[in-house]
Amino acid sequence: MTVTSPTAEYAQDIQAIFNRIAPAYDQLNDWLSLGQHRVWKHMTVKWSQAMPGSICLDVCCGSGDLSRLLARTVGPQGHVYGVDFSVAQLAIAEQRAAASLQPLPITWMEGDALNLPFPDAQFDAATMGYGLRNVLDIPQSLAELFRVLKPGAKVAILDFHRPGDPLVRQFQQWYLDTLVVPLADALGLRREYAYISPSLDRFPTGAEQITLARAAGFASVVHYPIASGMMGVLVASKPSA
Ligand SMILES: C[S@@+](CC[C@H](N)C(=O)[O-])C[C@H]1O[C@@H](n2cnc3c(N)ncnc32)[C@H](O)[C@@H]1O
Repeated sequence: MTVTSPTAEYAQDIQAIFNRIAPAYDQLNDWLSLGQHRVWKHMTVKWSQAMPGSICLDVCCGSGDLSRLLARTVGPQGHVYGVDFSVAQLAIAEQRAAASLQPLPITWMEGDALNLPFPDAQFDAATMGYGLRNVLDIPQSLAELFRVLKPGAKVAILDFHRPGDPLVRQFQQWYLDTLVVPLADALGLRREYAYISPSLDRFPTGAEQITLARAAGFASVVHYPIASGMMGVLVASKPSA
């Protein structure tokens, strides 16, 4: 099972890619998923079991969709920390939250998913959207999530997957080659979006993710395939003390 990417330069490349695509990222997400990513993000927040008053973490928050959904769930008694290593994405996250009609209890922080800037056992729930596939070291990222969650808390991790069914797989590759990359090309971002296909090939399957989450210490780990296996959400609980 391949769980790490080949070189440390990969992390710098990814950081640079996400800084460059920041202005177009939200619009491309909407076009490319036909708005469906919003539904999947709602499901992810629900599965994280964030509640009113919870203190939550959104790792690889990007422009902050999941952080804002979490903030609306936790309400004024709770708080959300959105962490990303792309300052350009964080700047957009901040603008979007500031434009919200209601004040949102969110703190945006520059930080690395592999070395989270928090003490142990801080959070009641955590999310990660389209981040795990991009980190250099998936086991380390899961270990960090495990470390910062309180006993009994859950993390819900949403990402693209390579579907197991050969026909759906073929459709996904056609979609990436025929729609995603040309559309990104039209916005001057071909190279940035061409990385999606190889990142999917490296990404562990749902079953492999379950094994990795258990190895990081999580208990009751479930992987939910969605969109015919082209997406998936890994939900893992830290054992109660
Ligand atoms: C595809 S975007 C997803 C953004 C957002 N979560 C969403 O669902 O729309 C992935 C984000 O992960 C961030 N990222 C990748 N590796 C990271 C790392 N090691 N530490 C912190 N952020 C990272 C990138 O900067 C980027 O903003």
